[in-house]
Amino acid sequence: MTGKGWRGDEKRFSNMRLTVIGTGYLGLTHAVCMADLGHDVMALDVDADKVARASKGEVPFFEPGLEPLLRKNLDSGRLRFTTSFAEVAEFGDVHFLCVGTPQAAGGSADLSCVHSAADALAPHLWRPCLVIGKSTVPVGTARKLAARIREQAPVGDDADVAWNPEFLREGFAVEDSFSPDRLVFGVASQRSAELLRQVYAKLLADGTPELVMDLETAELVKVSANAFLATKVSFINAMAEICEKVGADVVRLADALARDERIGKRFLVPGLGFGGGCLPKVIRAFRSAAKELGVESVVNLLGAVDAINLRRRSRLTDLTRDVVGGTLAGRRLAVLGLAFKPGSDDVRDSPSLQVCGQLVREGALVSVHDPVAMGNAAHIQPDLRYASSVSEAATNADAVLHLTEWADYRVIDPAMLGTVVAQRNMIDARCALDEEAWRSAGWSFRVLGRA
Ligand SMILES: NC(=O)c1ccc[n+]([C@@H]2O[C@H](COP(=O)([O-])OP(=O)(O)OC[C@H]3O[C@@H](n4cnc5c(N)ncnc54)[C@H](O)[C@@H]3O)[C@@H](O)[C@H]2O)c1
Repeated sequence: MTGKGWRGDEKRFSNMRLTVIGTGYLGLTHAVCMADLGHDVMALDVDADKVARASKGEVPFFEPGLEPLLRKNLDSGRLRFTTSFAEVAEFGDVHFLCVGTPQAAGGSADLSCVHSAADALAPHLWRPCLVIGKSTVPVGTARKLAARIREQAPVGDDADVAWNPEFLREGFAVEDSFSPDRLVFGVASQRSAELLRQVYAKLLADGTPELVMDLETAELVKVSANAFLATKVSFINAMAEICEKVGADVVRLADALARDERIGKRFLVPGLGFGGGCLPKVIRAFRSAAKELGVESVVNLLGAVDAINLRRRSRLTDLTRDVVGGTLAGRRLAVLGLAFKPGSDDVRDSPSLQVCGQLVREGALVSVHDPVAMGNAAHIQPDLRYASSVSEAATNADAVLHLTEWADYRVIDPAMLGTVVAQRNMIDARCALDEEAWRSAGWSFRVLGRA
């Protein structure tokens, strides 16, 4: 696969020697896709086990289409892995920084991996080079990082820094890498912009819009895009809170709003809200940065977005308690879906997993199922019963909770599932199941956001 709609004129593009530092969800996908575009790529991680597995063609997380592409590019010789910073500095002059930026205590971004990667790389930079940040960072990071690298690099001011934020979605990472909506180049020099154009020449030739801007604006594009999407989710969930009070139907409301093309339906889905390794931590880090800068409007807006989102989780626990008769103690519950969203095995800040924790703390016996995320979930929450099928999870359940909208769950036969449960109670927290089909099979069907 080389992206859709290539013009196929390979001679027009010159291949480069690139390095990718950090081979998690983002870095491994980026390294594989850059190699598939024809570049020679060396990828580095400090985790030797990850490097060993990637070198054997193994992807340590679930991402459709990535593993065959990894193997193809290992076989072609265009992709290799290492743990040595000296080796990557020797190999290439364009280095992508893709390390993690987790949430620190208090909500700000923990930049320690960014700093340690820069500190490990810089002393080996003897030739003019470009370090391109792809990690999601607070505004102002790139400029400070450039000073930090130049101070330590033998090449001094000829070590340039650019920021090229990444918008790929887990579950669609390969597709998004080859067909991004736009390429954002945050640069401090013409030379950096030129190098970025060479790196992405094929995507640009394919019609991907190129947006060149200063470093700070590029950093802000990423965090404000996340903040906007999170706000859209929390907006409809705030409307759900109103609907619950007055007996209105948030599902019909969302549908009617979405038909206004200025609003649109994407991310306007009421339910359990957002989670994962990106949106929650990004809005908290953005809020924390806005606080430091004294920008109260952003602080207040993002504080409300986060609070509305987290309230959906406790609201679901309340609804479940109501459905099973006022107490969760001793009740058997089946939870369908643990990943923070379908198409991923990522359970970082998973709304479903947090709800499971609340249910267990109130004494419920919780059986769970997920097509791919059970291994990751079991590391975090071993006290759940992990079932190998939907029927096994639902056996003798007093209620079934649909918490991650995997396509597999849409095709469950309600009549068949009705034969194994103790009570036919379905709670659809993702507004994704066919209500009519469940009701006609004799189920009580509740939706989060409807009275
Ligand atoms: N996952 C996504 O869908 C996604 C999308 C867009 C942006 N991002 C951003 O990309 C960045 C990485 O996210 P991720 O999901 O890939 O994280 P991740 O935790 O999956 O991967 C981070 C990797 O960096 C490695 N690492 C840590 N310190 C290092 C160092 N000093 N040198 C080399 N490697 C080091 C870790 O071992 C790990 O393999 C974050 O800033 C994230 O916000 C992620």
